[in-house]
Amino acid sequence: MAKAKTIYTCTECGGQSPKWQGQCPQCEAWNTLVETIAAPVQKRFQSVAGKTSQVRPLASVEARHTPRFPTGVEEFDRVLGGGMVPGGVILLGGDPGIGKSTLLLQAMAAIGAGKKALYITGEESVEQVALRAQRLGLVNAPVSLLAEVQLEAIVAAISAEAPEVVVIDSIQTAYTEALTSAPGSVAQVRECAAQLTRLAKQRGIVVVFVGHVTKEGAIAGPRVLEHIVDTVLYFEGDPHSSFRLVRAIKNRFGAANELGVFAMTERGLKGVANPSALFLSKHAQEVPGSAIVATLEGSRPLLVEIQALVDPVQGAMPRRLSVGLDPQRLALLLAVLHRHGGVETAGYDVFVNAVGGVRINEPAADLAIMLAVHSSLVGRPLPARTLVFGEVGLAGEIRPVQRGQERIREAVKLGFEQMLIPSMNKPKQAIDGARLVCVDRVDAALEFLRR
Ligand code: TYD
Ligand code: MG
Repeated sequence: MAKAKTIYTCTECGGQSPKWQGQCPQCEAWNTLVETIAAPVQKRFQSVAGKTSQVRPLASVEARHTPRFPTGVEEFDRVLGGGMVPGGVILLGGDPGIGKSTLLLQAMAAIGAGKKALYITGEESVEQVALRAQRLGLVNAPVSLLAEVQLEAIVAAISAEAPEVVVIDSIQTAYTEALTSAPGSVAQVRECAAQLTRLAKQRGIVVVFVGHVTKEGAIAGPRVLEHIVDTVLYFEGDPHSSFRLVRAIKNRFGAANELGVFAMTERGLKGVANPSALFLSKHAQEVPGSAIVATLEGSRPLLVEIQALVDPVQGAMPRRLSVGLDPQRLALLLAVLHRHGGVETAGYDVFVNAVGGVRINEPAADLAIMLAVHSSLVGRPLPARTLVFGEVGLAGEIRPVQRGQERIREAVKLGFEQMLIPSMNKPKQAIDGARLVCVDRVDAALEFLRR
């Protein structure tokens, strides 16, 4: 095959240069040029199906529901929004060793029962994959395996095998000879993903890319794949706990922010159907510095314990450390606590933690963080079986959160009796078993703790 001509394209402005330079000649951004295959212009303006698209009035286009099929791994289907969509491209990202290959092998084994599944591994040999299958009790699973890293060979194998679902484990190991860049570089990852995506769309194949999260937290290069694919899933979890969360960050075929919960066992990942109480630690009696919040992860609420430790400052500077919670948000809450609650933390180190390795990005946890900090500072626990949620504003107001009733109901189910919530989240009708304490100012919320 004749070698394709390559040029260097800026990832910021799209400007091009025949040779690599540190600075983009067009927009003058630094380190943004990556190697790309130079394609003839008319080719690039054709639609994915290979023919030119036509302009049509919206009213003449028939709305079609995307047909989807379940993978058979229930929690995985949940994050996917019900299953896989033919022609859909999925990116599964996560730290090394978190369970990406395990989950996909389990899913492929389940899919293989009704569809043609091909698992392409670039990181392990087929024997290693077979060894994992043995451990998972899936030795006879109807899945085809291929150990290959070269893109042209991968494309040829997909064309020859005509599978309905393909896993590329991982996209960082794939490389095309058309580019001189090293495998795993931004240029290679982009080009390989783009070519495989085109193939997926043309043939209606589901392609799943495994992507390793690099040190910076982005998937191979500055999140280069997120806009190419239809669905972006991230694996999360504390390596020291057996619980694993798969979160949908983006989904063209379903709701984003859906969450699948798994436990890593001796025999692979097992779905946890009712995860709500997983992230609560069991204390024999109430302890200071602990508050339970109901966060909403996609379609279901999760109860999570927030812990805080406030201790007289040890070094020259007070430390603020947060695990699973936004550190900026913590700084903001401490300022509000000072200004509007009259609680001074300047002379203290403040540590906060969301129990169980979950990451909470929702402002609904604000009030629980604030109360946990205050509770640790004064050494007095919150009342037993109490749930707290609410967003805290800079003016000291407690703002309502989405779907408050669902959060309250979930807590009632798990035996919580008292809820400290924003006034605006008060349900019109009383909820059986829930004693609601409604507050709309920070000082009123702190007053609740002093009682
Ligand atoms: P793996 O799927 O290889 O991770 P990734 O592809 O994301 O790098 O999973 C790795 C970890 O899971 C490994 O440390 C071993 C553990 N594991 C189990 O605990 N039980 C099992 O049944 C399997 C297959 C793996
Ligand atoms: Mg792996």
